[in-house]
Amino acid sequence: MTDARTRQAAPQAQAQAAPQAQAQATPQRLTIRRPDDWHLHLRDGAMLQAVASETARHFARAIIMPNLVPPVVRSHDAAAYRERILAALPAGSNFEPLMTLYLTEASDPADLRQGVGDGLVRAVKLYPAGATTNSDSGVRDIEKVMPFLETMAELGLPLCVHGEVTDADIDIFDREAVFIERVLAPLRQRLPELRIVMEHVTTRHGLDFVRSQAQGMAATLTTHHLIINRNHLLVGGVRPHYYCLPVAKREAHRLALVEAATSGDACFFLGTDSAPHATHTKEAACGCAGIFTAPNTMSCLAQVFEAESALDKLEAFTSLNGPAFYGLPANEQALTLVKQDQPVAYPTQIPVEDGQTVTVFDPGFELYWAVEEAS
Ligand code: DOR
Ligand code: ZN
Repeated sequence: MTDARTRQAAPQAQAQAAPQAQAQATPQRLTIRRPDDWHLHLRDGAMLQAVASETARHFARAIIMPNLVPPVVRSHDAAAYRERILAALPAGSNFEPLMTLYLTEASDPADLRQGVGDGLVRAVKLYPAGATTNSDSGVRDIEKVMPFLETMAELGLPLCVHGEVTDADIDIFDREAVFIERVLAPLRQRLPELRIVMEHVTTRHGLDFVRSQAQGMAATLTTHHLIINRNHLLVGGVRPHYYCLPVAKREAHRLALVEAATSGDACFFLGTDSAPHATHTKEAACGCAGIFTAPNTMSCLAQVFEAESALDKLEAFTSLNGPAFYGLPANEQALTLVKQDQPVAYPTQIPVEDGQTVTVFDPGFELYWAVEEAS
């Protein structure tokens, strides 16, 4: 990561958090069930071609976000997108994309029944309109989608929620907490049978809310929100490659997220929200939200869990809790992480097309855990 660290001047707090101090006490090899990513953006076209193998290399399955342009609204859109993803995978890959539909106020319950019946649709994504990248077709008035949500509840299909309000008068750092109060808590009361995943939780409020729910509710946590806080984004210059939505919060929240991820608690699991954008669209006057963590996520997580003396909880977070919530078997295949003496070298950028690149997440500290490649 030398180049990226030079370019982005690794934040001091992160450098201190590097966990070499634990080296003596921890194992040098860790074999876990193959992980899944319960929140992933693969995009389409040249970007899909560029990034698909980055996830398929380490992960067995992923919940694929539907915020394409135009969005994946109907089951036949999801079926066609699934084919494009499979075609973009390296030969011999058995990576399984788990498809989602993008909820609009015109979404059709009959189409949902068909897609679920076919075994194609695994979840539906709720974007409040305007909340994030390609969310303009999302939901403005939750009333309008209640019949659709009732169908989902009947089918037992999880709703993946981008949990931020979009009101201009709500501070961007408060949008998750206000969403819980105004939208999520009332929805849980009204339709407790609906299974909900609160995606990319970034605050203590989100964690507490999920913990407070008896059943049918879980949260995904991203790799980057376990590592960066808002100082990393803003102190000493704006670092566009740390900009994502929900935006990183203050350090106390990051610490709470790390505690939740490393707790082994069944309601928390990995959803990387790895979200590739061309580098020049992030390094811009109005830069895109999204952090691309697919290549080095497992190395980053091993480092974070090791620092908490919680390597024994990594498998629950990446490979067990997610399938249990989604009602799927855990993967039979394994993945082995090996602790190296020298830092693992990841590319700082991945080529896309026409000289464009995607910048890989720089955690700001060296990574010593490598994923052992199958021989
Ligand atoms: O940072 C983000 N990027 N957050 C999202 O919710 C969407 C994502 C994207 O699609 O780029
Ligand atoms: Zn996302």
